[in-house]
Amino acid sequence: MCGIIARIGHGNAAETLLSGLENLEYRGYDSAGIAVQNGSGVKVHKCSGEVSDLKSTLTTHPHGNMGIGHTRWSTHGPPTDENAHPHTDTAGDVAVVHNGVIDNYDELRVELQAMGHVFESETDTEVIPHLIDEYLKSTGDTELAVRQAVDTLEGSYAIAAIVDGEEAVYAARKGSPLVLGLDDEEWFLASDVPAFLDYTDEVIYLEDGDMVVLEPDSYRITDLEGEPLERPIETVDWDPEDAGKGGYDHYMLKEIDTQPTALSNTIEGRIDNGTVAFEDLQSGTFEDVDSVQFIACGTSYHAAMYGGQLLRSAGVRTEVLRASEYKSMSGPVDDATLVVAVTQSGETADTLDAVRTASDHGARTLAVTNVVGSTAAREADDAVYIRAGPEVGVAATKTFSSQAVTLALLTQHVAADIPEATPRDDRASMLESLEDLPSHVETVLDTTQAEELAETYLDSESYFFIGSGLGHSVALEGALKFKEITYEHAEGFASGQLKHGPLALVTETTPVFAVYTGGEDEKTKTNAIEAQSRGAPIVAVGPDDHSLVDVADAYLSVPDTHPVWAGLLANVQLQLLSYYAAKLLDRPIDKPRNLAKSVTVE
Ligand code: BG6
Repeated sequence: MCGIIARIGHGNAAETLLSGLENLEYRGYDSAGIAVQNGSGVKVHKCSGEVSDLKSTLTTHPHGNMGIGHTRWSTHGPPTDENAHPHTDTAGDVAVVHNGVIDNYDELRVELQAMGHVFESETDTEVIPHLIDEYLKSTGDTELAVRQAVDTLEGSYAIAAIVDGEEAVYAARKGSPLVLGLDDEEWFLASDVPAFLDYTDEVIYLEDGDMVVLEPDSYRITDLEGEPLERPIETVDWDPEDAGKGGYDHYMLKEIDTQPTALSNTIEGRIDNGTVAFEDLQSGTFEDVDSVQFIACGTSYHAAMYGGQLLRSAGVRTEVLRASEYKSMSGPVDDATLVVAVTQSGETADTLDAVRTASDHGARTLAVTNVVGSTAAREADDAVYIRAGPEVGVAATKTFSSQAVTLALLTQHVAADIPEATPRDDRASMLESLEDLPSHVETVLDTTQAEELAETYLDSESYFFIGSGLGHSVALEGALKFKEITYEHAEGFASGQLKHGPLALVTETTPVFAVYTGGEDEKTKTNAIEAQSRGAPIVAVGPDDHSLVDVADAYLSVPDTHPVWAGLLANVQLQLLSYYAAKLLDRPIDKPRNLAKSVTVE
């Protein structure tokens, strides 16, 4: 996934484009580029590397009141200067930035080369400016030429284009996100709101098939036939500070540290007299449901495991599926199936594709997401927001905690609706102790020994994380976080699985972090002790009063609480462990190599 931005208005565009790209860099940081139009041609500036590298190549800001920009996550062609966007046609009159994948670029490229077009890069995107140039020759009408070019493309795209001599920006979307930002002095287009949140919170979320033409004092939204379209103007309830680093060294540390606030927002108004109440879901909404599927990717998949386990224990037939494998792994789906898409960004292509597949089979769909107006929220039958606020660090942290709490509440709502289900008999105490979760997280943040332990085990060969029941998804999440930002070998296992193979990897130099929640922990204790007898140092992660603490070599403590929430507290300890280990290893914590905040290509 990449980040694109466009801007037209009064005053110079370059500065706004560059700061917008910096706010989009969580979407990809393989290369960066801008193109500015100033009446004496289209000026392109691009290079491999981060926006800061691009800025250092610019002695002065190029002049021009309109332009486009791009930050890249490579899909076609390595991260080189040539493959950086914007791409242009042979004459350099048409410049284009793109997020997505053009599936039919190969045959288009061959056709265009046969017509004499010269290609500079290995990317799929470069066919677009050449196509626009070709249609311009036949139509002499830029808007029509862009429409015809877009109509020729197969695959996913959010595109912005500028053409020499035209004081306009042309854009279109299908399958990749694109938002229009409205400000008195200027118009913006971007892959995501943080790109222009410093300037405006008035936005229009564009739909698949929409095309936009921005001119200095007006904007037009049409379909690909040129028919005018109306789209609602919405106000984003995030403020720029939310999207800033707020004085922290890294977004990741800020997002770990602000979890008490995020969780308070997630919980607020959703517990009413010992029952769960969701603002957008009526009681009885799911009474006809007889099975539930959770689908997700990455960290969201581990949160989905958390929710799935709780719903299963309420007697509801439940599957938890990795979205990328949905078509091959899914059981039967029909109109009595509820499909819950768990996705913080609401834009992950694998998850969106799985939702569409389930919907095609008649399933009822529900998006659990962090982004109002995201594609998942707009395409699903219902949406529930986790309210964690913007998350910029590529490695998800606060959104995992807010997802797990939202899903835990959702499972109580669903179980209450389904006649055959048996809601938890300790539901009242579970919901009561939830109110304390934000302050318990605060205690973990204030008392953690994670930095010391990260130093103690820094030279380890590998890192293993084990847990049972709800602790299993936390062990997997702990290992994922460690891998994502330290680049060290880390693996998570269901405690009972360790002896069925992975134990062969256990040595004196492979610490085992044993997560326990006060629930099904017996297997975790026995398997941790088995690993210890093979020489592995054991780190207990959980409440004080557990017998594992007595035998462990080290210990990350969490306040005593209901077993449903203890795992989330343990996870905060593991987030901090990963953060401090990555810091000691001097890793680019907010922008780990080869990753992106959410992947909008399959
Ligand atoms: C990956 C991110 O690209 O996508 C992970 O690096 C994330 O952090 C995963 O968990 C899924 O993203 P989302 O937005 O669907 O929750």
